Amino acid sequence: MAVAVYPGSFDPITYGHMDIIERASKLFDKLIIGVLVNQAKTPFLSTEERVELIKEVTRDIPNVEVVSFSGLLVDLVKREKADVIIRGLRAVSDFEYEMMMAQTNRQLDHDVDTLFFATDEKHSFISSSSVRELVAFGGEIDAFVSPFVKAKILEKKYR
Ligand code: PNS
Repeated sequence: MAVAVYPGSFDPITYGHMDIIERASKLFDKLIIGVLVNQAKTPFLSTEERVELIKEVTRDIPNVEVVSFSGLLVDLVKREKADVIIRGLRAVSDFEYEMMMAQTNRQLDHDVDTLFFATDEKHSFISSSSVRELVAFGGEIDAFVSPFVKAKILEKKYR
């Protein structure tokens, strides 16, 4: 059984992430979404909120599982008996960081490979950080996140 891990902060999950999840889930028997428990920086959404949102927006994809993790990504990959890590590449500017991570992970565990998906050009400008900034300043986020995610984010902002 081919298993892949798609890791990230997902703070919040965007249409860009959802596109990668849809495409990767077709290539693997199981796709595990690994939500990083950010220890250094305080995320906008809690780990539980991020996991809940991802579960909701992926509920129609049966071979997707959502877990949270702290510590090293390669340990999650081993724990889940996965074969590869999935990451999306939006632009050349992503490349350096992604290459460094892929090579670090391979240095830590030589069996762990990273597979990159070229982000659909419709989504190449989308990032969770711009969503957070738009929310903070009252900008429109309909092109970035699903209606369910938008509702949860705004509920949190005005709570
Ligand atoms: O969506 P992000 O924030 O770009 O995802 C980054 C993530 C979660 C993939 C990365 O920070 C990560 O793997 N963190 C776990 C710690 C780790 O394994 N570090 C070694 C690789 S550099």
